[in-house]
Amino acid sequence: MCGIVGAVAQRNVVPILIEGLKRLEYRGYDSAGIAVIDHEHCLARTRSVGKVRELEGRLDAHMEGTTGIAHTRWATHGRPATENAHPHICRKTVALVHNGIIENHATLRRAQMQLGYEFTSETDTEVIVHEIYRRLEETSDLLAAVRAALPSLRGAYALGVITNREPDRLVAARRGSPLVIGVGIGEHFIASDVAALLPVTQRFIFLEEGDIADVTRDAVTIYDAQGARVERPIKQSKLSADAAARGEYRHYMLKEIHEQPRAIADTLENRIGLERVYEQAFGHAATDLFADIEAVQIVACGTSYHAGLIGRYWLEGLASLPCTVEVASEFRYRKPRVAPHTLFVTLSQSGETADTLAALAYARELGFAHTLAICNAPESSLVRGSELVLMTQAGPEIGVASTKAFTTQLVALLLLVAVLGRRHALSPEGETHIVQLLRSLPGQIEQVLGLDAAVQAWVPFFANKQHALFLGRGTQYPVAMEGALKLKEISYIHAEAYPAGELKHGPLALVDSDMPVVAVAPNNELLEKLQSNLQEVRARGGELFVFADAQNAIREDAQTHVITVPPTDDLLAPIVYTVLLQLLAYHVAVSKGADIDQPRNLAKSVTVE
Ligand code: G6P
Repeated sequence: MCGIVGAVAQRNVVPILIEGLKRLEYRGYDSAGIAVIDHEHCLARTRSVGKVRELEGRLDAHMEGTTGIAHTRWATHGRPATENAHPHICRKTVALVHNGIIENHATLRRAQMQLGYEFTSETDTEVIVHEIYRRLEETSDLLAAVRAALPSLRGAYALGVITNREPDRLVAARRGSPLVIGVGIGEHFIASDVAALLPVTQRFIFLEEGDIADVTRDAVTIYDAQGARVERPIKQSKLSADAAARGEYRHYMLKEIHEQPRAIADTLENRIGLERVYEQAFGHAATDLFADIEAVQIVACGTSYHAGLIGRYWLEGLASLPCTVEVASEFRYRKPRVAPHTLFVTLSQSGETADTLAALAYARELGFAHTLAICNAPESSLVRGSELVLMTQAGPEIGVASTKAFTTQLVALLLLVAVLGRRHALSPEGETHIVQLLRSLPGQIEQVLGLDAAVQAWVPFFANKQHALFLGRGTQYPVAMEGALKLKEISYIHAEAYPAGELKHGPLALVDSDMPVVAVAPNNELLEKLQSNLQEVRARGGELFVFADAQNAIREDAQTHVITVPPTDDLLAPIVYTVLLQLLAYHVAVSKGADIDQPRNLAKSVTVE
């Protein structure tokens, strides 16, 4: 999704803004732009379609300024084109970058056209810059102009605004889209994500809903939605500028796949004892709030939704708690009947997914007992809006296709199963069993990462195919869904997942030698049934690619390829087998020359509906 960076400093801010944009590339975008106030107090702007390095290539070598804003755009209103890229400028006087969507842009555009404003883009954003310019003419004060313009906007925004009439000032505002202020010494910054600013500061102020910030070199003054001056705390980030470096790895995704043993160990640290899960890990109020929970509603999007589906099997099977799981974009428009004492759980790597945030707000209206966020972004809107929080400690995930954030979500869900389950059907021995298994998990992931070469050997069977089918049963069905999603998002091969028992109700018609069929086959009570389903594929001339437990008797033959996986407990199998499917998608996509870390049309953090 779109990214914002801005700066007011004594030094030239162009390199800071460009580096900031590069650090936001992982969010997904299709065009980029930068505007600074130059030495002659004019607005200088460069924009381009494509990557930040293309923007960099277009920059005038003399472009310099001490106040500036920059943006990566992910097209919503108007196609990816230079004229639609931000910053947008009104009458050479006001420049603006915007994340979010202005819903009443068409009405505003008509009114502004009647007033003689010229439009140079198809975006919803351009109306904001005209609206602010109009007020600047009346007030001659940028802060007052922004404040006066905002009430006419309907929708979501994070904004950075500058004007050459006040060259040392930057005004920022947020409603519905995240924005942080970076605090420096004699310089200040804004960004949609702390990652953009880590090379210049580690001190951040997180703006609240409705805040407007007046940012100069020496001061940051914040006003709340009612216009009252407020103090917001400065927080020290623990992230370092190189935490997100790619190191020896060819792609972030590969690095992040290999980081999973450490990410899981970090997620468990201080959360488990020898036999028990510490429920304080969910927050100080956890013991009180969990006391009367009798059911769970999980809501999430994308990969996080798949984690939720696996969580349901665990919550029902181990804790005997009723659990429903739904994608946020559906949940938020449904009229669900809420059973008393239901815990509302959101799962999200970014904590900024617009649909998940809206679902959380709706859950509060609907009267869920309590809310819990399982999230990987400590200062995100989701974390701040939830009563209880369990942070996954995956560290920054840059690859758009989520890997370590997913497996750490699964670990977090097992911790939840333990603390809720002990109040229901989970025995102390059952909890100890979960804890011991979790301790062994990082080592098990290391082992399956050792199967990388075997997975790579399968690449030629997939690289030229148009479609693939993924099969699993029980907890392995959502694993198959995640494997199919990984393959389609980064290799652009159409992939579908089916619960293997459903094969004969439709997808079997598609099976032929051009449709590779991937099956996840750990050793569990459904294995025999899965094997019969695989026979159905073989009998139709399909070619099978099976990840099978070492103890399973699935034999290789001309139509059946098997990668033997070290034995693992059924409880951990979804996590262990997912890693193999991540590797498969990764290597197939590499062989196709795809843009692994920034797949086309996708974004890391989906901050619009
Ligand atoms: C985007 C990302 C996915 C992610 C989904 C949900 O589509 O590309 O990797 O699973 O959003 O995001 P969340 O941050 O809420 O987990």
